[in-house]
Amino acid sequence: MKSIVIANWKMNPASWREAKALFAATKKAADKAPKVGVVVAPPSLYLRELASGYRGKRLRFASQSARAENGGAHTGDISLAQIKDAGAKAAIIGHAERRAAGETNEDTQKQVATAIKASLTPILCVGEHERSQSGEHFTFVAQQLKAGFAGVSPSALGRVMVAYEPVWAIGAVAPMEPRQMHEMAIFIRKTIVENFGAGGHKVHILYGGAIDAENAAAMLQEGDVDGLLVGRASTDAKEFSALLSTIQQA
Ligand code: PGA
Repeated sequence: MKSIVIANWKMNPASWREAKALFAATKKAADKAPKVGVVVAPPSLYLRELASGYRGKRLRFASQSARAENGGAHTGDISLAQIKDAGAKAAIIGHAERRAAGETNEDTQKQVATAIKASLTPILCVGEHERSQSGEHFTFVAQQLKAGFAGVSPSALGRVMVAYEPVWAIGAVAPMEPRQMHEMAIFIRKTIVENFGAGGHKVHILYGGAIDAENAAAMLQEGDVDGLLVGRASTDAKEFSALLSTIQQA
């Protein structure tokens, strides 16, 4: 199976000119790595123009954040319907930085259900803030999963991707140990299957947090994940190209 890499540009780059250049480099790197399914999540302001100008088949687009409501009085926000209309095929939902800005498990539940209805692939982000010996992080992640999947019918389970991103590893120097990810991947799958049925075996599980060209291959090989959600390294054209090429060669 192809590995999935989601390029989460966050609030970068600062200008349309730089965004075009970064996209051109991303496109080139993806063309050289056919084993990797690349999804670009640019700032929504750049999404339509990048998607409509793209003639290739290697890249797909995702939103970084979008509301479930179809419209209404939500100053500054955008909707899943709008990002779909702009050319996105997937939607990052419940990223830790959105949760920190006030998004709740209930919001993610609505967004995942609405994304599926709109034929968008939901990428549900989950992850604890910290770890303790008592293992409370498992309970925390289970709650996020139970809420996020609550509006998904059994037949649609396989259309959801889960990105496990421990908050303590986002923006950090090093990612989580791949063997810890392996353990978490087993837990995530078990939680989905136990609560929502056997369709949970089809859910793709990704890891995110401090992934770069150096550590990407090990995480994919030893972490039991189908892909990676990449922040910083996706906005550095050289680093991202090196990252895709190590996965291609692994
Ligand atoms: P990072 O961000 O790769 O810069 O740690 C990951 C993310 O937040 O998706």
